[in-house]
Amino acid sequence: MFRKSVHFTVNGRFIEIQGKEAFAPLSDTLRYLLRQTGTKVVCSEGDCGACTIMLARAKELDQENLRFRSINSCILPTFLADACHIVTIEGLAQNNQLHEIQQSMVRNFGGQCGFCTPGFVMSISNMYEHKSAPTEQNIKNYLTGNLCRCTGYKPIIESAQDVDTKKLKLIKELYPLKSETKTLNEKTAQALFIESPDKSFFAPTTLDQAVEFKSKHPYARIFSGATDMGVQINKGKDPGNYQMSFHLISDLYTIKVENEKVLIGARVSLDRLQNFMENHIPAFADFLNIFASPQIKNSATLVGNLANGSPIADTTPFLMCLDSQVEILGKKGKRQKVLPEFITGYKKFDLTDDEFITGISFNLSEVKNAKMALYKISQRRDLDISCINASFIFKETAGTVTEAKISFGGVGPTTKRLFEVEKQIIGQKINNQLLENVKKLISDNITPISDVRGTEAYRKLMAMSLFEKFAKEQLGI
Ligand code: FES
Ligand code: FES
Repeated sequence: MFRKSVHFTVNGRFIEIQGKEAFAPLSDTLRYLLRQTGTKVVCSEGDCGACTIMLARAKELDQENLRFRSINSCILPTFLADACHIVTIEGLAQNNQLHEIQQSMVRNFGGQCGFCTPGFVMSISNMYEHKSAPTEQNIKNYLTGNLCRCTGYKPIIESAQDVDTKKLKLIKELYPLKSETKTLNEKTAQALFIESPDKSFFAPTTLDQAVEFKSKHPYARIFSGATDMGVQINKGKDPGNYQMSFHLISDLYTIKVENEKVLIGARVSLDRLQNFMENHIPAFADFLNIFASPQIKNSATLVGNLANGSPIADTTPFLMCLDSQVEILGKKGKRQKVLPEFITGYKKFDLTDDEFITGISFNLSEVKNAKMALYKISQRRDLDISCINASFIFKETAGTVTEAKISFGGVGPTTKRLFEVEKQIIGQKINNQLLENVKKLISDNITPISDVRGTEAYRKLMAMSLFEKFAKEQLGI
C-alpha cells in the first residue's frame, strides 16, 4: 500500500499535494497554490536566487541535527519537497514583527525594487543557520547564488554584517520542529507513489522497493537534487514517464570513514560533503567551495554529479584520481566498479537496466603524503560551468615520482584519466625536464572539441598550464 500524497510543512503548516500538481516546480506550488508570493521567480534555472527558500529534510535528522539550508525552489519539483520542512520569507516575520535580518535590510537600505530581496534574506539566514561568522568574505560566499540588478551589493553586504545576533532568532526557535518532525515522519513512513495523466513518481522507503521499480521500469529517471534536471524540465525537456527519488531511504544519507575507507551515500549533498572533507581532504573541501552556489550545493549530491554523466562534471576528475569505486545495486545484488571503467562513453555507464548507484567509496590512503590539486577554469569564478577541469595526485620519494594520477574533464566525450601519461612519469626525477615532457604528453593525449566555452587550442593550452601550476605550486619545480 503506497502513499498517494506528498507531505511537507510550509511555515509550520502541514501541506498535502496530489496528482499532477506534485510535478510542478516548488516555487509554483508556493506561489500559486499556497499564495506564498514572497518567493519570486526570475530565471527558473537556479542562477539568480530570487526563489530561495529554507528547507530541512526530516531524514537528515538521523545523520545530524536538523539544520535549515537554502535551496532554489524554481528547479525543485514539488515531489522532492516530500518529508521536508520549508520556511519561506513569509515565515521569518513573527507577530507582525520583521525578522532581525529583514530589519537589518531596512536599516541599511538593502533593497530598492525589492524583487531580489526575499532571496537575499533567505541566503543571509542560511549563513546564520550555519553559524558562519559574518565576515565580508563569508557573506560574499553565501551570496554567490543571488543576483541584484538595482541596489548594488554593498548595502546588502552591510545588512548581513549589521544583523544583531542577540535579537536574531534561528528557524528552530521560530517553529516547534520536534513535534512537527514527529508528525511529518508518521505521515511519510510509507513509500510514495504519485500518478498524473502522463507521469508517475515513486519514492521507495527501502532499496528492495527501488530495485523492483527499476527492474519494471528500466528507463525510470532517478532524481537526486534535481539541480540539472530541474533546469532541463523548466526548459521543456521531458524527463520521461517514470521518475524515482531515494529521499526516503535513510541509509543513503550516510557519509563516514571506516578503516580509512570513505563511503558517501547517494543522498549526501555537496554541502555536507564539503563540511566532511574539511576534516579529511581539505583540498577537496576548498574546491567544493567554488563548485556552485550554496543553494545548489545544499540540493545537489556527489552521486548526482557523477550520474549526470557530463564530461565536465567538476568532481569526477578527482574521484577518478582517487580510484573511487562506484557502489551499484540491482536484481543480482551489490557490486562495485572502479570509476574510470564505470564510464563507458558520453553519458553512458556500466549499468544494467535494473541497476543504480547507491554511493561512492574511496580509500584515504590514496591521498596520504600526496601532493594534490583540483582545478577548474570557467568564464566566471563562481556559479559557472567549467571550460576544463583537472585533478592531479602525485607521490614522491627523494625527488623521484613514485605515483602519478592525472585526470581532466572537458577534453573529450568523457572525463579522462591519462593512464598512458602516468606510466611514463613513474620513476622520473622531479625537475624542469619532467614538466616539459608531461606538458607535451598531456597535449598529445587529450582530444578536446571547440564550443562556446573554449576552443580546442585554448583547452589544450589550459590543460598544460594547469599541470604547470600544479608542478610549481605542489612539486616545487
Ligand atoms: Fe532564479 Fe530560481 S528563479 S534561481
Ligand atoms: Fe531590485 Fe535587487 S533590489 S533587483
